[in-house]
Amino acid sequence: MNIINPLAERYIEQLTSVHDALLKQILEETNANHPHSHMLSGAVQGHFLKMISKMIHPVKVLEIGTFTGFSALCLAEGLQTHGEVHTIEVREDDAATAQKNFNISVHKDLIKLHVGDAKKIIPTLLQEWDLIFIDADKTSYIEYYELTLPLLKENGFILADNVLFHGQVFNENISGKNAKAIHEFNLHVAQDDRTEQVILSVRDGISIIRKV
Ligand SMILES: C[S@@+](CC[C@H](N)C(=O)[O-])C[C@H]1O[C@@H](n2cnc3c(N)ncnc32)[C@H](O)[C@@H]1O
Repeated sequence: MNIINPLAERYIEQLTSVHDALLKQILEETNANHPHSHMLSGAVQGHFLKMISKMIHPVKVLEIGTFTGFSALCLAEGLQTHGEVHTIEVREDDAATAQKNFNISVHKDLIKLHVGDAKKIIPTLLQEWDLIFIDADKTSYIEYYELTLPLLKENGFILADNVLFHGQVFNENISGKNAKAIHEFNLHVAQDDRTEQVILSVRDGISIIRKV
């Protein structure tokens, strides 16, 4: 299901600022060559991530689900001078592509790529995060939220992607395991008095969650 009217989507895409040459290249290469290119954040959401990062001006950013590196590079745009983006990817091929992309970026020294299962890697990263982007396997969102929330600064933010899951979460009887998991996650956060959230209908739905 198209959550956003295609006309609105086209209008938004046309009038959202363009990305730099490297980010454009990653979008084009991933779309042309990757069998799962639909997993990319896309041009508009990439700008959304950049804007959030520039508004928060974070020192430490954690991303769960690197894919080809596009969103990590967007998140790096607002980093403070000695800030870092730590990003985790389980698939070695995608991690290698991401690292290749990071190596030719002006942000290359600020991005630390961790290869492996995020559930194992997160507890080893003993940092205080200003901003966390959850964008990996949907059935683990609650686990990622619970693992990272204690390490999120007070007034820090979590962004969670795909929270409308192609509109499947609107159904009275949700059938797919990913859609069910995402709906459970949305309920879990909505009922949690440690945080507040707003769900936005950007692309496939993105939540902004603030630790209060
Ligand atoms: C939706 S894609 C990420 C897209 C990327 N953030 C972007 O916007 O371009 C999800 C990624 O999470 C990775 N992933 C899935 N399960 C994971 C896990 N347990 N640990 C780390 N990465 C995982 C997948 O291999 C995939 O590359």
